[in-house]
Amino acid sequence: MSVNRFDRLPVFLDIATEAALAGGAVLKSYWGKLDGVEEKGRSGDLVTAADKAAEARVLEVLRRHVPEHGILAEESGNLGRQASPFLWAIDPLDGTTNYAHQYPVFAVSVGLLIEGKPAVGVVYNPATDELFRAAKGLGATRNRVSMRVSTTDSLARSLLVTGFAYDRRETDDNNYAEFCYLTHLTQGVRRSGSASVDLAHVACGCLDGYWERGLSPWDIAAGIVLVEEAGGRVTAYDGSPLEVTSGRLLATNGKIHRETSDRLLEVRPLASLPGVGHLSERSPV
Ligand code: IPD
Ligand code: CA
Ligand code: CA
Repeated sequence: MSVNRFDRLPVFLDIATEAALAGGAVLKSYWGKLDGVEEKGRSGDLVTAADKAAEARVLEVLRRHVPEHGILAEESGNLGRQASPFLWAIDPLDGTTNYAHQYPVFAVSVGLLIEGKPAVGVVYNPATDELFRAAKGLGATRNRVSMRVSTTDSLARSLLVTGFAYDRRETDDNNYAEFCYLTHLTQGVRRSGSASVDLAHVACGCLDGYWERGLSPWDIAAGIVLVEEAGGRVTAYDGSPLEVTSGRLLATNGKIHRETSDRLLEVRPLASLPGVGHLSERSPV
C-alpha cells in the first residue's frame, strides 16, 4: 500500500520544530562565550563552535525521528539516505557573522524538501524567541499565531531586504547594482545578515520583499514555505518557478512581485550607471 508522501506533514512540522528549538537552545548557551571564530575558506565565511554544536543537536533530533530520510546540513554536507524523496535542509546558525559579533539577528533554519520542493519550514530566532512555522497546505504561524504577508501594493511604498554572498569580492554579479537601484525605488532596502530571518520577516509582513543571489538550499528551504503559506510568492528573479538549487530568489507579498521582478531584470552593472542623476530619473521622490 503506498502512503501519500504529504500525509505526515503535521508530524514533520513538529519534528522540524523540535530540531530548531534544540539548535536554538545551543545558540543561546554559546551567546557571548565564543572562544574563537574560524574562516571556512572564503574571506568572511565564518564558522564557530556554536554552528557545529547546534548542528549536532539538530541532527540528533532528525536521526532519532526520521533515520530513513536524507539530510543536507551546512556544516556536515550530505548525510543519511540521499535516494530518499525526503531531504532535510539545515542551517544550524543562519547569520554566523552577526552571531560572532553579538549582533542579535540570527536563526536556526530547518526545512524539509519532498521530491525537491520545500514542504515544511521552521525558522527559530533565539534572540527574539520567535518561532516561525509552516507546512504546505497547513498555513504559517509566528509563535503559533497565524501570520500573513503585508498588503503593500507598490514598490514605491515598500520596504525590502537583501544580502550579499561571500563571493561578493570575486564577482561583478555581487548584487551591489541591484541594491543601489532598488534602494532608489523603494522606502528602503535592509541587509539583516540572515536569509532565513529575511524570509520570515516577509512572511510575517514587516518586510514586503526579499531578493538575493548566492544562496544555498539550507538558507532558504524553510523560509520559502513560510512565505508561500503566509500568502506570498517566491520565484526566480524573472518570475519563473523557483529551482531551490539555483541560489537566487525573489520573495514578496505577491502584490509587488511583478514590479520588483521587472525592476530587478532591468538593473545594469554598477560601473555602467552614470551615477545618482541617472537613477533619479526613475525615483518616486
Ligand atoms: C548567510 C546569511 C546572509 C546571506 C549569506 C548567507 P550564514 O548565511 O544568510 O544573510 O547574505 O548569503 O550565506 O553563513 O550566516 O549561515
Ligand atoms: Ca546561511
Ligand atoms: Ca550557517
